[in-house]
Amino acid sequence: MRKKFIAGNWKMFTNTAVARDLAAAVVRGLGSEERVDVAVCPPFPYLHSVAEALRGGRVALGAQNLYPEKEGAFTGEVSPAMLLDCGCRYVILGHSERRHVLGETDAFINRKVKSALAAGLEVILCIGELLAEREAEHTEQVLQRQLAGGLADLTGADLGRVVLAYEPVWAIGTGKVATPEQAQDAHAFVRRWIGGKFGEEAANRLPIQYGGSVKPDNAASLLGLPDVDGALVGGASLKADMFLGIVRAGL
Ligand code: PGA
Repeated sequence: MRKKFIAGNWKMFTNTAVARDLAAAVVRGLGSEERVDVAVCPPFPYLHSVAEALRGGRVALGAQNLYPEKEGAFTGEVSPAMLLDCGCRYVILGHSERRHVLGETDAFINRKVKSALAAGLEVILCIGELLAEREAEHTEQVLQRQLAGGLADLTGADLGRVVLAYEPVWAIGTGKVATPEQAQDAHAFVRRWIGGKFGEEAANRLPIQYGGSVKPDNAASLLGLPDVDGALVGGASLKADMFLGIVRAGL
């Protein structure tokens, strides 16, 4: 049985006080619950204060991006080692906003994945199709391209420190959630693809989160699907009660 993993992607929201309070409320709400894994991913400037707020609790810290070099003259960028130093366990990579707003390619995302793993971080790798791609029935082709590109050169052992997040781009921040059937079909396709590349056992172990307008009232129907192992939550992760509602739906 794969344990459910709920992660909050705070995107470019909060400030120091809000981030600290939100993190503390999630820690309190989760308490000693061990049946579900939970992480929050604040903006870079708040990693330190959120790490402090998480201390002693069961909520892990993640970042939303990194630059795939150890150190150097890369003005404005943040290295994997810096994230570890701030207390991060996870990093979100390949998010659709980075692909489509910031122009990141699968090759660049793959460099990030490899440098994160080499440094000792765990990766939440996001994949997902645009509305036009779904309407043209290209969803599986797109997922396959993003998986092959993002996971290039990884070993089976590497994959043990990867979580995938299937996030249909048309469902992100739109209130339009994938139907349980659409989500299950995509997740099953992803797991089959992983099985073909890394073997059955690796595929069965791999957690695949769903992301895109997950809310407390739709979480149970998604988290109850056989191949959905958690959620990557944007908007609803900014309110502790909503985020905790989703976490509880995963129990
Ligand atoms: P959303 O975002 O929950 O606000 O749709 C999900 C995500 O971008 O990870």
